[in-house]
Amino acid sequence: MAILVTGGAGYIGSHTVVELLNAGKEVVILDNFSNSKPEVLERIKEITHKDFKFYEIDYLEREKLEKVFEENKIESVLNFAGYKAVGESVKKPIEYYTNNISGALVLLDTMRKYNVKRFVFSSSATVYGNPERVPITEQSKTGGTTNPYGTTKLFIEQILKDIYTSDPTWDIAILRYFNPVGAHESGLIGEEPQGMPNNLMPYIVRVAAGILPELSIFGNDYDTPDGTGVRDYIHVVDLALGHLKALDKLEKEGKGLFIYNLGSGTGYSVLEMVKVFEKATGKKVPYKITPRRPGDIAKCYADPTKAKQELGWQTTKTLEDMCRDSWKYIEKNTK
Ligand code: WQD
Repeated sequence: MAILVTGGAGYIGSHTVVELLNAGKEVVILDNFSNSKPEVLERIKEITHKDFKFYEIDYLEREKLEKVFEENKIESVLNFAGYKAVGESVKKPIEYYTNNISGALVLLDTMRKYNVKRFVFSSSATVYGNPERVPITEQSKTGGTTNPYGTTKLFIEQILKDIYTSDPTWDIAILRYFNPVGAHESGLIGEEPQGMPNNLMPYIVRVAAGILPELSIFGNDYDTPDGTGVRDYIHVVDLALGHLKALDKLEKEGKGLFIYNLGSGTGYSVLEMVKVFEKATGKKVPYKITPRRPGDIAKCYADPTKAKQELGWQTTKTLEDMCRDSWKYIEKNTK
């Protein structure tokens, strides 16, 4: 029985495939390379010395997607496919709603047709909007998303809740990621944003590598200890392992819809991240303070108690690990 990983050549998808293969699972990857590269597939094999089946298709293509289910005995689906750039989503809402929501609906409808009802969804802390209080628990109010990307996550969560209400034989885990950063310790796979990076860590590593001149820190007048934005950074390998724990729970207990925050529970500011990065790597990160980025919030970090209690999962890697691994990936992969 195989696990279908949509978007399995992407940043979080590829790290999760590595851990699935390391755990002896049979994996089928589906990806259209819209935000990933074919060589990631070879690197996954190089890291794990394991093989897997691969389909280069867009999950919106129903006939091709059905072929995957015809040709493989799929028991579970991890859905990483989806556009994820906040800024881009504001400029391209139609593309984001089509790809993320229609794609998820075609996938779920195809799963139903083949009676595959175990589903793990990549959601995001963005669904909490501007949180009323921190740390954020799973009971915190959701909504008030400030961009189409975050709204797609909110809508798909609602779709999943309605599916489960209509048919409680589904096993569904909704995983709300905080800020994924870092890379596999091998330096073979990591974050490769297309074009100019939106997120903090990919920007920092490119400044450290001399690819970009300096970091712009978006505002230092927030209600935080040093005025810069505070976020809950989680190493992508810790995040990947959280998916295996969620799958275990669905396989063992199943018949439910479960929601978990996947975060460290600790918030770090932008200036703290810069300082830790410079200490961990020995590289300087020149920066300037610029006006706030529209849509940004001051503080966002998790209360990860529920995942610890119900999944037996918690983060193990430190911010230094995240900085060192991110830097190692860029060092190994820039010409
Ligand atoms: C982090 C902090 C910025 C860049 C979003 C999505 C989330 C997930 C990650 C996809 C903030 C500051 C950033 C820069 C800066 N999406 N910053 N200069 O906005 O918390 O989360 O991306 O995986 O769902 O909501 O992440 O890394 O963009 O920003 O000062 O050049 O760094 O203001 O305080 P964010 P981020």
